[in-house]
Amino acid sequence: MKMIFSYATVSIVLSSVVGIGFAAELAKNPICILISKTVSNATGVFFPGSPEYIAGISHYANLSSTQISKCVVEPGNAQDVSRVLKFVGTARIPFAVKGGGHATNPKFSSTTGVHIAMSRFSEITYNNSSKTVKVGAGLVWDDVYAALEPHDVKVAGGRVTGIGVAGFTLGGGYSWLGNQHGLAIDAVLEFELVTPNGTVLTVSQSSNPDLFFGLKGGQNNFGIVTSFTLQTFPGAQVWGGSRIFDGSQTQLLAAATIAFTTNVTDPKAAIITDYMTRFGQPLASVLVFYDGKTPPPGIFDSFLAIPAVISDVKTRSFLSLIQSSGDLPHNQRAIYGAISPLKFTQALSDVILNETLFWSAQLSSKSAMTIAYAIEPFLPSVYSQNTTPTAYPPNRSLGFLPFNIYYSWNVSAFDDDFHSAARQSSARIRDAAITEGQADVARAPLYPNYAIFDTPLEDIYGENLPKLRALKAKVDPFNVMGLAGGFKL
Ligand SMILES: Cc1cc2nc3c(=O)[nH]c(=O)nc-3n(C[C@H](O)[C@H](O)[C@H](O)COP(=O)(O)OP(=O)(O)OC[C@H]3O[C@@H](n4cnc5c(N)ncnc54)[C@H](O)[C@@H]3O)c2cc1C
Ligand SMILES: *[C@@H]1O[C@H](CO)[C@@H](O)[C@H](O)[C@H]1NC(C)=O
Ligand SMILES: *[C@@H]1O[C@H](CO)[C@@H](O)[C@H](O)[C@H]1NC(C)=O
Ligand SMILES: *[C@@H]1O[C@H](CO)[C@@H](O)[C@H](O)[C@H]1NC(C)=O
Ligand SMILES: *[C@@H]1O[C@H](CO)[C@@H](O)[C@H](O)[C@H]1NC(C)=O
Ligand SMILES: *[C@@H]1O[C@H](CO)[C@@H](O)[C@H](O)[C@H]1NC(C)=O
Ligand SMILES: *[C@@H]1O[C@H](CO)[C@@H](O)[C@H](O)[C@H]1NC(C)=O
Ligand SMILES: *[C@@H]1O[C@H](CO)[C@@H](O)[C@H](O)[C@H]1NC(C)=O
Ligand SMILES: *[C@@H]1O[C@H](CO)[C@@H](O)[C@H](O)[C@H]1NC(C)=O
Ligand SMILES: *[C@@H]1O[C@H](CO)[C@@H](O)[C@H](O)[C@H]1NC(C)=O
Repeated sequence: MKMIFSYATVSIVLSSVVGIGFAAELAKNPICILISKTVSNATGVFFPGSPEYIAGISHYANLSSTQISKCVVEPGNAQDVSRVLKFVGTARIPFAVKGGGHATNPKFSSTTGVHIAMSRFSEITYNNSSKTVKVGAGLVWDDVYAALEPHDVKVAGGRVTGIGVAGFTLGGGYSWLGNQHGLAIDAVLEFELVTPNGTVLTVSQSSNPDLFFGLKGGQNNFGIVTSFTLQTFPGAQVWGGSRIFDGSQTQLLAAATIAFTTNVTDPKAAIITDYMTRFGQPLASVLVFYDGKTPPPGIFDSFLAIPAVISDVKTRSFLSLIQSSGDLPHNQRAIYGAISPLKFTQALSDVILNETLFWSAQLSSKSAMTIAYAIEPFLPSVYSQNTTPTAYPPNRSLGFLPFNIYYSWNVSAFDDDFHSAARQSSARIRDAAITEGQADVARAPLYPNYAIFDTPLEDIYGENLPKLRALKAKVDPFNVMGLAGGFKL
């Protein structure tokens, strides 16, 4: 069967179905009108100016991750996702798939074509007998944590507010539970997937091991996921929160962070340390977490002893914990850079702090807002909780730490400066780690959800790349998913 029809063929076929009088509508916004005639009444199609359209195209980095699409399609069920995918795939129309909209890479979940917003996939069904939960691909983690709280369970999801279930999970997913339960993908039991040819599949280890492997880190290369069935973990009450310090406390925070990474092996304990400037002002922060109502004495003392400007640390619900750090304004452009160090040392800390201040100064006249470097210590066991291979990381024998550089600004003329700075600064930190003896950093994979958009796929998927490319060729022979942005296999 020849799959690639011309757009004209599609229009003629569909026009004959929907009848005369349609020509005028069709001329105005042909693609979206045709889609609206193709889908069931469970699905909404929205045009510029409507509130649903604005919400649909919005992002966390709203100034750089959002594009003006022809319309927003909110599919209401997997069958309609299938219809839309067949339509855009056949007519070769660029499209986007958006979950929580937290991609910082431009064009990864936006398009000038057909913008598919997954927001109507909002099911949360907890199974008390299997302790699993089925969650829709349009949810953000906040919704999931809130719904699971009455059952006194939680899932391995986002560590701060607002992150989408779908993009987070399909990229790997570093959660507060990583040291105990691995990556978010390690807790996925089943995906419901609409494949690029429009087939609705339930993908599990037993039903479809190749796709089950590929979806665990392979992002949007294999189709559109409509739901995830996740393992839950006990205890919705936890301890932790955020502390923000004046920049003068950064060395104390560095010492506490190094001591934590050197000495703390309790898998229930986790932190994220940030060196940053905001509008040029040096700051530092730490998010602390303990999976229990009270941490054992000692573990967090040094963090709590540093005088803080703002402190919000207590026993609380898992939802309240991830909302503790608040949310930055979304009227920003943003980019992430990724590095994967093996450990956090004083020498590396010095380099990272210097990078923070150096690039803050370099970029201050270029509309810089936040310049932040996040140290995310995990035990090497984060990768050994699961023995089933996953697309990411390609090799679980190396206990590397995800690490990101985050820059935000608001003037588009400076995009290249910030992108270039993120690349240069990542390279400098990576080289410094190698120079100080962390030779394996040279082969440690980069986290796809942090890697900048032009990162070579070899640096993300490593030894898995040939297998992933073969799977992609088999599942998506007409490269339908190539019409959507992202790291493309
Ligand atoms: C403030 C902030 C905090 C973060 N914290 C963490 C963290 O703690 N741990 C961590 O691991 N990462 C974290 N990240 C990174 C985060 O995992 C990625 O940004 C992730 O892509 C967000 O998913 P999303 O659904 O919100 O994004 P979106 O922008 O909606 O989507 C991201 C990608 O996934 C694809 N996609 C979305 N939905 C689907 C679907 N249903 N089917 C197929 N493909 C789909 C999109 O096409 C796009 O390519 C953070 C990011 C930000 C901005
Ligand atoms: C949607 O379609 C179904 C079946 O085709 C019908 O039963 C239902 O009433 C419709 N709903 C609305 C709101 O039009
Ligand atoms: C859920 O299952 C547990 C046993 O695993 C049981 O004690 C509890 O009563 C059940 N809750 C509900 C609401 O059925
Ligand atoms: C809940 O889980 C149990 C045990 O795995 C299973 O037998 C049952 O079918 C599940 N219930 C639903 C509604 O899926
Ligand atoms: C780790 O703990 C040991 C024993 O308490 C202590 O001597 C050492 O200084 C600690 N390491 C760091 C980096 O704090
Ligand atoms: C994104 O920007 C648009 C246009 O300014 C605005 O209407 C929308 O509310 C913004 N979305 C977010 C999440 O800030
Ligand atoms: C700080 O970083 C800049 C840019 O990477 C570099 O040129 C400079 O030598 C560094 N300074 C120190 C003291 O390391
Ligand atoms: C992972 O890396 C180690 C060390 O380089 C190597 O021995 C091993 O074969 C690799 N594993 C896989 C699955 O490629
Ligand atoms: C960028 O932010 C600054 C400071 O908040 C503001 O004055 C300016 O208008 C913004 N510019 C754009 C293009 O959004
Ligand atoms: C559609 O894709 C599925 C999954 O890859 C495959 O099993 C099926 O044969 C394909 N159907 C057609 C008509 O190509």
